[in-house]
Amino acid sequence: MDHFLYRNGVLHAEDVPVAEIAAQVGTPVYIYSAATLTRHFRLFQEALSPLPHLVCFAIKSLSNVAVLKLLGDLGAGMDVVSIGEYLRAKAAGVPGERIVFSGVGKTRAEMRAALEGGIRQFNVESEPELMALSEVATSLGKVAPITVRVNPDVDARTHAKIATGKKENKFGIPISRASEVYALAARLPGIEVVGIDVHIGSQLAELAPFEAAFGKVAELTQRLRAEGHDIRRLDLGGGLGIPYTRGNEAPPLPMHYGEIIKRSVGHLGCEIEIEPGRLISGNAGLLVTEVIYVKSGEDRDFLIVDAAMNDLVRPSMYDAHHDIVPVVEPAAGVDQHPYDVVGPICETGDTFARARALPPLAAGDLIAFRSAGAYGAVMASEYNSRPLVPEVLVKGEHFAVIRSRPSYIEIVNRDSIPEWL
Ligand code: LLP
Repeated sequence: MDHFLYRNGVLHAEDVPVAEIAAQVGTPVYIYSAATLTRHFRLFQEALSPLPHLVCFAIKSLSNVAVLKLLGDLGAGMDVVSIGEYLRAKAAGVPGERIVFSGVGKTRAEMRAALEGGIRQFNVESEPELMALSEVATSLGKVAPITVRVNPDVDARTHAKIATGKKENKFGIPISRASEVYALAARLPGIEVVGIDVHIGSQLAELAPFEAAFGKVAELTQRLRAEGHDIRRLDLGGGLGIPYTRGNEAPPLPMHYGEIIKRSVGHLGCEIEIEPGRLISGNAGLLVTEVIYVKSGEDRDFLIVDAAMNDLVRPSMYDAHHDIVPVVEPAAGVDQHPYDVVGPICETGDTFARARALPPLAAGDLIAFRSAGAYGAVMASEYNSRPLVPEVLVKGEHFAVIRSRPSYIEIVNRDSIPEWL
């Protein structure tokens, strides 16, 4: 559920007409709904209650500091994968004790900064990382709280590029080697074992893979405890999928996901952490774009819009589907027309949708890509020297630009010409 609905024939973001934002801020523009973000975060809170838990928002899905502040103020923790994300969480006022640090390639500089600034835990993904962390923590006279991310060799049955829990993936340590790695962690100075971490992939459309992975984590908890480790937290990662096609998909609900968690690990007396990104932010965002031209090809019509693959890369990168809706509600019964919806970038991959049925559209019309809140703005680039898309947050009848569009001068001036050239 989200808060982007037609009212009196025009698409609104909560109480604000989308066209009003487009007129003030220009297009393309990302628009986020505070009410949707809030609602989705609370669904996870409710799903995990009464277990002691912390819902850590995966910042990688949507990292604007205003959004992080909104979620942080609701009590969210944050899952970060770089010191850049860590600094964003801090800038949003989230305390270090609510920030978990994930990722396979944390550098020593990142470890140092997180230890100095305060961190809840590092989710360690390899022995070399564990040893580096031990050295960094010891050199600072600190103790690094850690979980080890285990790879349970479970098929998440999602797009290959975002499946992470199979043994051939680069993530975590094989669950079969966990005892060895935890024994090493227990021996190393500057390291304190606090729990276990697992994350098997993103956009999961079913619960069975979660259940398989969490069951393995439960077994491992008992085993590691028997080996003398104080396993008191379980970080179960993110990954719950969202519906990208309205009316057609019914991915599992957070409530049912919560039931799986309670059933598989609820009896262990651990504090539960989860790291959802997409389910909180995905359907909380639109990318609004204007039709520049309607071009008639030999056998199809192209809708050439002012957003491109650099602004929303998911369709070209993962063949992802995003529903497209016109900002002015089509009249009831109007004949739909198939369009290839494309951006202005000089490659065929810059295609958002093929033969998409839409009402007849003309240059100057606004359309919106739905479900664009997650992995939208954060994956944007300046390819073709196109400025990063601005972001707007709506709350009720208020809206504000929470990241402005850079000017062309700013973009060009970031480059410098060496004096010897
Ligand atoms: N925790 C870890 C360790 C992760 O690697 C991820 C996502 C998450 C949590 C959050 O997963 P979520 O709840 O959002 O599914 N760019 C891709 C998605 C990449 C996901 C990477 N890891 C896309 O646009 O589909």
